[in-house]
Amino acid sequence: MPDEALFLRRLRQADAPAVHQAFASNPDMARQGGVTTAEEASAYVARLVSPDSPHEPWAVVESDALIGLVCVTVDEDNRNGWFWYWMTDRARGRGVMSRAAATIAEWALAERGLDRLELGHRVNNPASGVVARRAGFVKEGTQRQKFLVDGERLDVDTYGRLKTDPHPAFDPLPMVTR
Ligand SMILES: CC(C)(COP(=O)(O)OP(=O)(O)OC[C@H]1O[C@@H](n2cnc3c(N)ncnc32)[C@H](O)[C@@H]1OP(=O)(O)O)[C@@H](O)C(=O)NCCC(=O)NCCS
Repeated sequence: MPDEALFLRRLRQADAPAVHQAFASNPDMARQGGVTTAEEASAYVARLVSPDSPHEPWAVVESDALIGLVCVTVDEDNRNGWFWYWMTDRARGRGVMSRAAATIAEWALAERGLDRLELGHRVNNPASGVVARRAGFVKEGTQRQKFLVDGERLDVDTYGRLKTDPHPAFDPLPMVTR
């Protein structure tokens, strides 16, 4: 697949079927939200794209189809953003999410006007930590036994990136704003 086919653009309501497919693609998507039907996918996208929502959702697009999402949920009072992402199963493991997350983190700090980004990932999800570090996030701590998953208490590693932190080296994805 040529690289030009990959880009970032704003999430749209028309992405709902691709969002539904992504949630069905891997059981680990269940923790990203309650999307099991077309109607729930439509409501999920509607919440994110609503003009008064605090979310800044960017679709990762390949060959005109959504394959992933990077979103910054903005806390305007503190100029902070909660940073989160997911990739449909078939598109994982190619470094595309690392590039997408690094691109959106730069945008959020340089253009969206935020001072701090933060995220957390379960310690049994190391791929998410790889993506975060490649996007310039620094590990700040561990929330011990934060979640109860299938009867097991799991730690969550927390990460932050400040506007003043060093920029990571990465291969950015184009951001299409039309
Ligand atoms: C987390 C997620 C977005 C990563 O997507 P991805 O497409 O695999 O990401 P990338 O390919 O850009 O990078 C992942 C890196 O982690 C590495 N990785 C994967 N599993 C790993 C493991 N068990 N241990 C260490 N590294 C691992 C990969 O090898 C890859 O590094 P590489 O490019 O050097 O090979 C994807 O797995 C996902 O959507 N998971 C479900 C939702 C989720 O957990 N979101 C994050 C919530 S905090």
